[in-house]
Amino acid sequence: MEKNIIVLSIVALSLACLAFAFEPSPLQDFCVADSTSSARLNGLACKHPASIGANDFSFSGLHLPGNTSNPNGSRVTPVSVAQLPGLNTLGISMVRIDYAPWGINPPHTHPRATEILTVIEGSLQVGFVTSNPDNGLITKTLHKGDVFVFPVGLVHFQRNVGTGNTVAIAALSSQNPGVITIANAVFGSKPDVSGDILAKAFQVDRSVVDQLQTKF
Ligand SMILES: *[C@@H]1O[C@H](CO)[C@@H](O)[C@H](O)[C@H]1NC(C)=O
Ligand SMILES: *[C@@H]1O[C@H](CO)[C@@H](O)[C@H](O)[C@H]1NC(C)=O
Repeated sequence: MEKNIIVLSIVALSLACLAFAFEPSPLQDFCVADSTSSARLNGLACKHPASIGANDFSFSGLHLPGNTSNPNGSRVTPVSVAQLPGLNTLGISMVRIDYAPWGINPPHTHPRATEILTVIEGSLQVGFVTSNPDNGLITKTLHKGDVFVFPVGLVHFQRNVGTGNTVAIAALSSQNPGVITIANAVFGSKPDVSGDILAKAFQVDRSVVDQLQTKF
């Protein structure tokens, strides 16, 4: 009997932790972001319900290919709370990603979201790396209609492995998932992280770090 109570308490505690590990649940039907408010909140202030309409809950343009003429050969078109104010407090958002042949979406992490992605055109190698100490690489090549999930916080990437353009649509479990691109954060911070710190961290010559810092 006592054992059962302990097990139940552990389950209840785990559920409570789960509930707090993600965005808070809405306390009303919606809270359309008011971009003119200067209030500082966790999220954005709500527009008065009398002044909202269908346009606050809609976005147009995900049929348009993103421009992939850049060093990555890819382009992310976000539909998060900045583009679609009705997403405020709902804990969800979406992106379209275009990839030129062999284009990559470089290793990055979303500090606030799990991402689920589907390929709607072309072929895509996807992967993520598990946390320390294993740093296991989980990778797979996806084709049209395949779906893959990148667990919250883990470093992940994609690469077009087809001969044509690839297009993916992904949903993320935050109105504002955030992106930390590893190379940009480490070698492109403003001001620079000291070169000697990075040389030691990456176990390379200081000149290699200097070169990388000029690129980001
Ligand atoms: C795509 O981006 C490149 C580089 O910024 C630019 O030169 C080019 O005009 C853009 N193409 C289109 C169709 O906007
Ligand atoms: C590549 O893409 C990432 C993520 O979109 C971006 O932060 C970075 O600036 C891009 N790098 C280059 C060299 O264009």
